[in-house]
Parts: sequence; structure tokens; C-alpha cells
Amino acid sequence: MLRQLPYLGWWYLRALLGRKAPLQSVIFILDRCNLRCKHCSVYELSNPRSKTLEQIRSELEYCYNAGSRYVDFEGGELYLWRDGDKTIDDVIDAAHEIGFWSVTITTNAQLPFAGSHADQVWVSMDGIGEYHDEIRGKGAFARLEKNVADFKRSKPYGKTLPPVCVNMVINCLNESNVEAALDYVKASPYIDNISINFHTPFKETEGLFLDPDRRNEIIDLLIARKRAGYPIMNTVPGLNAMRMKDGRTVCTDKRCWVTNFIFSDGSRSPKCMGYTHGVCDRCGFSMGGEMCSLFKLSPATIAAGLKLRRRI
Ligand SMILES: C[S@@+](CC[C@H](N)C(=O)[O-])C[C@H]1O[C@@H](n2cnc3c(N)ncnc32)[C@H](O)[C@@H]1O
Repeated sequence: MLRQLPYLGWWYLRALLGRKAPLQSVIFILDRCNLRCKHCSVYELSNPRSKTLEQIRSELEYCYNAGSRYVDFEGGELYLWRDGDKTIDDVIDAAHEIGFWSVTITTNAQLPFAGSHADQVWVSMDGIGEYHDEIRGKGAFARLEKNVADFKRSKPYGKTLPPVCVNMVINCLNESNVEAALDYVKASPYIDNISINFHTPFKETEGLFLDPDRRNEIIDLLIARKRAGYPIMNTVPGLNAMRMKDGRTVCTDKRCWVTNFIFSDGSRSPKCMGYTHGVCDRCGFSMGGEMCSLFKLSPATIAAGLKLRRRI
């Protein structure tokens, strides 16, 4: 980490002076999925795409050469990805070989992920029990619980087990289950922390968008719980930046260019897909709020970012 600080300082200084180079990358490697989540518009049923390891390697090199040093692999479901006998762990190894400092994966935890080579595992959890299943399908929560516990009881691939962060997306189906989800994570011996997002109304999922006043109320609750010691990954300034006023998020300059995106069709963009879909004013991605507060020089956000991205 210490060796990375000069690069990070230099990147930040140049960003303050107006240079827009990515520091992190999100690469979608497939859009095939084993769930049909109500809030999701990423998975593809009729003609799913899956990249080859060679294509992913070349995309990683492109991102690294653009300045990025952290990568998140996304799908679709990463544990369905194959290229011959290669699996998601070979993709993670390729990122480390190229020089990325830290690699995170997002999974729905329906398949075992023990022994993952990732530095951080994000598990999508949209509530407890029936709330999660209502959005993700019957039995999904039980499979998640089992695979998360198996992962935390397994032998680490590296020196230590990567942290497991659950990623909850709050919408009008699960908003009443937020407190229960926070209590569950706090009590869990297997989950390290929780990251909170709000539903972003992509096409055909607009009906799940949460009433702005309710979003603001939940943000108040999250800040109170965080101050009470709950393991909530969002920072207080990041949460405040996700508040809504007059039908739009209070943070209008989200600095989303900190991350560049490569989608499953291979298209490359310096902006999140929310931009192309015209939903930035109702963005619910925690990263939007965190990037906003990063550039307000929030010490809490800078410290949280460094902690999040440490290499295992
Ligand atoms: C597209 S999914 C793919 C990864 C994996 N299959 C999974 O379910 O975790 C990645 C993350 O995006 C979140 N997501 C999907 N649709 C969203 C939306 N409309 N607004 C906010 N987050 C969303 C999911 O809940 C999940 O945590």
C-alpha cells in the first residue's frame, strides 16, 4: 500500500487540475446469468455473450495503460464464465499479472466460490430470506448463506481470506427490510460489511424506484447505524451525496469518470451505463456518492477507498 501512495497522490493532484484518467475499471466479462433478478437489466436471455480470456486480457491491458490500477469484474454471473478449462480465477490471475493492485468480483453466490483468487468479494444480497428471494428467486437466499459460510470456512488461496462485502440494492420491494439486513450483517460471522445502493431506474425497471422521501429517511437511518458501529461500507459524506431533492440526487457532479467501463459487447466508455440510459439524476449507485465526496476532499472517503482497495 505504501508503495502505491505516490501514484495515488499524483493521480489525485492531476485530477484536481482537470485530468480525467480512470483509477479503477469495471469489466463485464459475460452477460449470462443463473438468476433473473427483478431489478436487473444486465442479463441477456436470448443471445448471451461471453468474452475469451484473450479478449479480457487485452481489455485489462487497455485499462492499465489508461492509468487504472483497480479492477472489478462484473457480469452476468462470473461463476458461469468459462473459456475452455479457464475459470474466473484465471481472469483474476491475469489482472494481477498485468499489474493491477487489487481485484474485486461481484457474485450472486449461487455457486461455490471458496478458494477465490480475488482481493475482495462482493456478494449481492437484497434483503433477508423471503425479501431476497422475492427479488432474486426462490431458494436464492439459502444458497447464498451456504456458499458465503463455506467460503469463510475454507482455506484461503492467498495469505488471508478476502473480505466479503454484501451489496444491497434498496427498492420498493425490500425497503422495509433494511434494518433487518443491517442487523443480520452485524451479527454474521461470515460477512465483513455491507454496501448500500438504491435502485437506479434503468428501462423496464422504473417501477421499483424508491420514493425520494423514503430514500432520504433510509439515509438518515444508515448514518445513525453507521455512527452506532454497524459495518456499513458507505461513508457518511457518500451517503449524504446520495440524498434526493426536487426529484434528483443532490450531487450533480458525480465524477464517475474515476471508473472506466468495458461492457459485455466489448464497447468501452469513460462513464457508467446510467449515463447512456439518462438516469444519472436518479442514480442509486453508492460509488456515485463516494466519488462525489472524494472530490470534496472528504478524509472519511479517502480513508475508506484506501481500505477497500488493499491487496490481500
Ligand atoms: C448486474 S449484477 C451482476 C453480478 C451478479 N450476477 C450478481 O447478481 O451479483 C451486479 C450488481 O448490480 C446490482 N444492480 C442490478 N440492477 C441494478 C439497478 N437497477 N440499480 C442498482 N443496482 C443494480 C445488482 O444487485 C448486483 O449487486
